Amino acid sequence: MLIAKTIAEVRAAVAKLRGDKKCIGLVPTMGALHEGHLSLVRAAKAHCSAVVVTIFVNPTQFGPKEDFAKYPRTLDADCALLEKEAVDVVFGPDAAEIYPPGASAVVEVAGISDRLDGVSRPGHFVGVATVVAKLFNIVQPDHAFFGQKDAAQVAVLRRMVRDLHFNLELIVCPIVREPDGVAMSSRNRYLSADERQQALVLHRALRRVEAEIAAGVVESQPLIDAGFAVLADEPEIRVDYFSIVDPNTLEDVPDVTAGALVAVAAAVGLTRLIDNVLIPPR
Ligand code: PAF
Repeated sequence: MLIAKTIAEVRAAVAKLRGDKKCIGLVPTMGALHEGHLSLVRAAKAHCSAVVVTIFVNPTQFGPKEDFAKYPRTLDADCALLEKEAVDVVFGPDAAEIYPPGASAVVEVAGISDRLDGVSRPGHFVGVATVVAKLFNIVQPDHAFFGQKDAAQVAVLRRMVRDLHFNLELIVCPIVREPDGVAMSSRNRYLSADERQQALVLHRALRRVEAEIAAGVVESQPLIDAGFAVLADEPEIRVDYFSIVDPNTLEDVPDVTAGALVAVAAAVGLTRLIDNVLIPPR
């Protein structure tokens, strides 16, 4: 497994793989890898003959009061996990490699970037779209793999790929959960034991909505009310949103009959967690 620090190194490695007629899968990550990330790597291994994983804690997607400084950085442990998965190349650049001095170009996927997480994290999706566009340009993969847990990110990136004609297929992999239902996240490691218990309520609220839909409720408002009723079991968490939206546009939908994304974000202690469930068309 090659560990590349510079764009020149990763480009040379990818050129060699292309020369060997490999199909390239890209898994962009910010490191602190867990089973959710490894599921993306395994999907990439299954679809592609060569896999590149990027590990880069992207400063531009963190707001000034967010956790950029304390975001876990575990490069050696991450590389050991990726080596076991037989990844071909890890790209772990410094910030200056991705954002050279004076870098000012950004990618803004207008409108959709201001919905869901984009409301309370202004600029977040511009940071995400910009860094992912850079990674796509650097690696030029055939397929790129993202997790459904970041449903709003997926919608923004799908739109970016379509609108900017990136010549790749975006593949979205299911949410990986802990045995008790909590969605895996690098930020779960911030949670105290009490907070970890409180975090369970996000998944419980989503399951309640699924149960209501299974029982025949299709209008969004009663479903949202049912979700909030469950979230109220944990009065210490601070709900950012509990929304029912179109998974492609992230706009609110009045009912779930055409399919919908039920998405929640909440602060548990100082940790912001997200989770969601996709409702198929009825
Ligand atoms: O999902 C993430 O880990 C990040 O947002 C990504 C896609 C690697 C961009 O920094």
